[in-house]
Amino acid sequence: MCGIVAYIGHRQAYPVIVKGLKRLEYRGYDSAGIALVNHGLKLYKKKGKVANLEESTLGQDLEGHIGIGHTRWATHGEPSDRNAHPHRSANGKLAMIHNGIIENYASLKQELIKKGYQFHSDTDTEVLLYFIEDIQKNNSSTLEEALRIALKRVVGAYVIVLIDEDNPDTLIAARKGSPLVIGIGKGEHFLASDASPIIEYTKEVVYVNDYEIAIIKADELILKNLGNERQTPFIQKLDLELAAIEKGGYDHFMLKEIFEQPHTIYDCLRGRLDAAQGTITMSGIQNNMELIKNANRILIIACGTSWHAGLVAEYVIEELCRIPVEVEYASEFRYRNPIIHKGDMIIAISQSGETADTLVAIERAKEQGAVILGIVNVVGSSISRISHAGAYTHAGPEIGVASTKAFTAQLTVLTMVALMIAKERNTISHDRYIHLLNELNEVPEKVKHALENADHIKAVALKYKDVSDALFLGRGYNFPIALEGALKLKEISYIHAEGYPAAEMKHGPIALVDESLPVVFVATKDTYHQKIISNIQEIKARKGKVIAVITEGDETITEMADDVLPIPEADELIAPIISTIPLQLLSYYIGVARGFDVDKPRNLAKSVTVE
Ligand code: F6R
Repeated sequence: MCGIVAYIGHRQAYPVIVKGLKRLEYRGYDSAGIALVNHGLKLYKKKGKVANLEESTLGQDLEGHIGIGHTRWATHGEPSDRNAHPHRSANGKLAMIHNGIIENYASLKQELIKKGYQFHSDTDTEVLLYFIEDIQKNNSSTLEEALRIALKRVVGAYVIVLIDEDNPDTLIAARKGSPLVIGIGKGEHFLASDASPIIEYTKEVVYVNDYEIAIIKADELILKNLGNERQTPFIQKLDLELAAIEKGGYDHFMLKEIFEQPHTIYDCLRGRLDAAQGTITMSGIQNNMELIKNANRILIIACGTSWHAGLVAEYVIEELCRIPVEVEYASEFRYRNPIIHKGDMIIAISQSGETADTLVAIERAKEQGAVILGIVNVVGSSISRISHAGAYTHAGPEIGVASTKAFTAQLTVLTMVALMIAKERNTISHDRYIHLLNELNEVPEKVKHALENADHIKAVALKYKDVSDALFLGRGYNFPIALEGALKLKEISYIHAEGYPAAEMKHGPIALVDESLPVVFVATKDTYHQKIISNIQEIKARKGKVIAVITEGDETITEMADDVLPIPEADELIAPIISTIPLQLLSYYIGVARGFDVDKPRNLAKSVTVE
């Protein structure tokens, strides 16, 4: 979703901002723009890619040591030059970029229209900017004061950054609900929606908190709350290398991230799981173990792929810990007045740590006294900061919009959490506990092995690339993997795909089956193996095409299926981490074969910061 970059300092702002916007392209956007102050305020905006914007600025005066830049993912008003950010105030002196949604923009707009303001875009951003300008004009106040007053009336989520041609040495920013990172250089500051545009310049950063205003000069950073009280900036060191956000020889970030999984899962286990000693160490979980192990119920909230990780966790936690688990879409949870009892524990799962629905769902749960464990990938993100405790997934930056390595890292962490709780609750035998620790330890090697089949999976993908629909079926621990396989395929190949529990097929979806419908079974050897073999037969009897993810050496399914995607043998509780790998590759190769930009699928955003 919208990306924000701003710069003030001794360098030329334009190249820093353009490079930063390109680093944020993965978030998804449909127009881009930049404003610079240098002997007046200059705005450049263009529908489409940052490259279009660059092209349109060729030969223009791009000098200036202060500037703001934005990639817009349309919410209010179509993608167009006119709706692109930055927006200019009515008096022409201010420019503003915004990430988020101003919910009461319509009433503010009416007030401003009555006062004679004329709008040049359909955006809520322009409304907020005029509102700030109006307050500044009527109260003869500074921009900072006007902003503070305006934000007290604003309902919604935002990060905004303003520049003022009358104060060309100051950037003013504010945040509520959307992310903002400030990089601190020598005599310069960098602002961005996440750390990726910043790391090549500095590793010292400050994450701005909700309801804070930042007043930034080249050599000074002041943070204040909305009550105008100074706050001490908490400077953190980024643990991130530039290579982590570059393609490193792969055709796409998605492919790089799929192939990184042996390492990311290893990093996730490293320093935590000691199979020889029979221990798992995660301080965020240990420090809250009394509460967690005595929970009457665990509620898992998440969206999309992270929700699928939650579904796997439901099976694993109920099996190992004997605690009832419910998994909820955060977007439903936040609006449906959920019942939360004392003794309920909430696990919130999010790759980005910025998903608006998950953030608000956590806030609602906290209001009712719930304790929140955050399972998050992006260090320092909003969800990691508002959770009471939790664990990072340590998958590194995920740039491809379709989540891959973050998902397997989520499954790894959640399995470790379940094992820790089960051990404390004595709901697992010592032998099973040690067995599962060893199994987890072997996952990076097994994933590596599964990836060696990439060429075969590519050949299968080419065979099915032109289908219009696909069904994904699984049972037990592999049912959520079927859902995830279907989501991956539809996201990046635009093929209509549905995931179902395999036995549900008979209650409706089987009506779709004919010789043109590929049905992808996640059918590794587990408790349900015989059952899923029957389901495969039911599809074959109706001439459906069967592609099956199987355990290596499974002759029975190999004979029945049209194509098989084998993975190494693993305990059924651990297998989902591995069985998802061939499905990621299948979607990737189909998406590429159909000629789509798999890293940036249409209409999707990496970080869904609006509801
Ligand atoms: C799918 C995908 C999305 C995200 C969802 C939640 O490939 O990436 O479905 O999983 O938008 O995002 P996070 O995990 O950042 O909260």
